[in-house]
Amino acid sequence: MKFSAFVAVSMALASVSAGPAFVRRASFTLQNGKDAIALNQKFQSLSANSPCQTGEDACVDNKFAQCVNGKFVLQQCAGGLVCAALPLVNSAGTSITCTTPADRDARIAATGATGASNNAAAGNAAPSASSTFIAAPAPSASAVSGGNGGGNDAQSSLTLLQSVIATGFENDGQDQPLAGQVPSLTSSNNFINFCATVPNLPITNGLQIKTGSCNPAPMGVIAATTNMPSSKFQFPKNGGKIPANQNFTIKMAIQHLETGHFTNASNNYFAAPQVVNAQGDIQGHSHVVIDPLPSLDSTTPTDPTAFVFFKGLNDVAQNGVLSVEVGGGLPKGAYRLASINSAANHQPALVAVAQHGSLDDMVYFTVE
Ligand SMILES: *[C@@H]1O[C@H](CO)[C@@H](O)[C@H](O)[C@H]1NC(C)=O
Ligand SMILES: *[C@@H]1O[C@H](CO)[C@@H](O)[C@H](O)[C@H]1NC(C)=O
Repeated sequence: MKFSAFVAVSMALASVSAGPAFVRRASFTLQNGKDAIALNQKFQSLSANSPCQTGEDACVDNKFAQCVNGKFVLQQCAGGLVCAALPLVNSAGTSITCTTPADRDARIAATGATGASNNAAAGNAAPSASSTFIAAPAPSASAVSGGNGGGNDAQSSLTLLQSVIATGFENDGQDQPLAGQVPSLTSSNNFINFCATVPNLPITNGLQIKTGSCNPAPMGVIAATTNMPSSKFQFPKNGGKIPANQNFTIKMAIQHLETGHFTNASNNYFAAPQVVNAQGDIQGHSHVVIDPLPSLDSTTPTDPTAFVFFKGLNDVAQNGVLSVEVGGGLPKGAYRLASINSAANHQPALVAVAQHGSLDDMVYFTVE
């Protein structure tokens, strides 16, 4: 087991050094091993309540730990793997990942580093998972560069962490097909390269590309059912009548959305996952849009490009109410006013269950 892991590491080295047929240890290899041992020792003293620096990664109780707002957020490693600091192979530094205890020990041993507690990190028992999982740090120097750390940052590493793989995505859902139900797209790597399947489309890249695009950002934190946002217009009210061509102020009560969070709409559109605050409410903002209608009882679908008023409500709600003035008012006619309650990067709010009341409000009013 150890031997084969060592061979794998040696071959990885050989494949990138393109030089000597027999590989010597690089100048940084021993130090990487020592650093990994020291980190694994340090991790044993950490608990979920240990103070941390935002952005710092670690292992706590064998789980992958990311420091968010000064507190560790733990993610269980999948498939019986344990979290460990490993020596990088191609450059100076270490990486933190999920692996088997045997793979961890073999990689550290392969550096020549020894330490009393090389094997003391938790998970020392014979691994239940086979050790064929190789948590190889990305070989790209840019992904893992930097002393003791470039490769440790989960948000810059090009390696998909074992701890975040959604194995449920491998199932197309058709074990017992419902009439008319279609198979889901499937992936065993979280669809990280999904946009490569639609090479005709540009990557969204934070832009509002009118002809369509493919967005690689994950959806992020999904709000719990106790935190689903909703809103209700206070003015105009449903069925309300307002005078033509005169300023009026839309007022909308909103709950369970921490308003005031909006990113640069030209550059960061759909460009980051949804997040929630400490209470679990989505951090975001809202929008209001007014569509003209042929009549209040029209049954024709509206044209989403043909609205007469649109405004992002970027401010923090005052006493739970967002407002915006419609300068100059509207000409006579029938209208529909709707909210678009959104996360910070403008994506519509995402919540824990499919069956829920509307997260938005819509009212119908006339201008006379
Ligand atoms: C949005 O980002 C772009 C690119 O950095 C910048 O040119 C623009 O001024 C920003 N807009 C706002 C409103 O900050
Ligand atoms: C009407 O609305 C516009 C735009 O919000 C504002 O500049 C203007 O002062 C308003 N006029 C009145 C009479 O309130």
